[in-house]
Amino acid sequence: MKLLITGGAGFIGGNFVYHILSKYPAYQIICIDALTYAGNMETLAEAMKNPNFIFIKEDIANREEIYLIFEKYSPDAVVNFAAESHVDRSIKKPDIFLRTNVIGTGVLMDACRMYSTSRFHQVSTDEVYGDLPLDRPDLFFTEETPIHASSPYSASKASADLLVLAYHRTYDLPVTISRCSNNYGPYHFPEKLIPLMIANALNDKPLPVYGKGENIRDWLYVKDHCEAIDLILHSGKLGEVYNIGGHNERTNLEVVKTIVWELGKPESLITYVSDRPGHDLRYAIDPSKINRELGWLSATSFDQGIKQVIKWYLENSSWWKNILAREHHNAMKSSYLRFDKFEKN
Ligand code: NAD
Ligand code: TYD
Repeated sequence: MKLLITGGAGFIGGNFVYHILSKYPAYQIICIDALTYAGNMETLAEAMKNPNFIFIKEDIANREEIYLIFEKYSPDAVVNFAAESHVDRSIKKPDIFLRTNVIGTGVLMDACRMYSTSRFHQVSTDEVYGDLPLDRPDLFFTEETPIHASSPYSASKASADLLVLAYHRTYDLPVTISRCSNNYGPYHFPEKLIPLMIANALNDKPLPVYGKGENIRDWLYVKDHCEAIDLILHSGKLGEVYNIGGHNERTNLEVVKTIVWELGKPESLITYVSDRPGHDLRYAIDPSKINRELGWLSATSFDQGIKQVIKWYLENSSWWKNILAREHHNAMKSSYLRFDKFEKN
């Protein structure tokens, strides 16, 4: 099998690359990633040593180049992780989310049509369903829950999902979609809640909690997500959507307090900051369809997973410290350039 994986230098895509390389050593992987701020070749350092792994730096929205890649490699299947993925960034600058998440998905599917690729799998998110109220713990997202996105990020992912289902109906493109809850695990970029809190706590920096920290997320260990996508890819039904989640709901404050406690840091680091505009209240997945039809169940409880993740960040501090140093350097450079421009004007 020749598998084209997009966004493999990112968090979940990187974990999926390692999942496939270890479980299916005969598969060939062609990884496309534009290496945006979120892409990191250090994540793929081990994969690059594998002769069955090919990396191509490319933007999925770049139609001509994407067609050339399909022409050259004729992949049997595509798993699309490539995306702009951070809600806060989408609030500040939505346009790139439309280009990558919507146009990029369309370009990949056009390439699949043109080169008769046997499967296009779209990695989507539970955020397309909007949110659930905090006072109704009996409610969960099912695959039938209406699409009701809140942020530019979730609206772009929901648009992509609609396009994927439309390509199935109109062109009979062999597609599947998975909608997963919040992931955590190794190689998670330190702008998202869990890795940011671990990095800040280790540096004795404030831990910024939005609003009162009462919002609820349903956390899934990234390796469980990779296992679920693998199952859908090999046994999922064409044209179907599968929700993925492990019933690990926590308030943000519970998550941050767990990290503080595990690292032996003082709770006084917790700092309440202004709330995110349009902040979704609660996400909670009903995973009964993927359990019933494909036999998938999450293997890692949050209490186990968070300990493993903290251990990973402690043992791999150069990975996230290099990212923070690069981000700091870029921020300094752009403020210098702004200042420079102002001076010249
Ligand atoms: P990430 O931001 O860590 O990684 C995204 C990767 O895509 C990066 O390597 C980046 O360089 C690459 N990329 C961005 N724009 C690109 C472009 N135009 N062309 C090619 N590559 C490009 O994201 P992630 O957290 O790994 O999320 C992966 C996918 O899973 C996304 O589609 C996201 O919507 C979905 N998802 C994420 C979560 C989560 O909790 N992180 C949960 C459910 C679903
Ligand atoms: P995040 O990791 O950005 O994922 P998402 O917005 O896709 O769910 O945020 C998870 C939750 O944590 C969300 O409710 C926002 C909150 N949050 C904070 O309270 N402080 C932070 O610094 C960040 C990044 C997120």
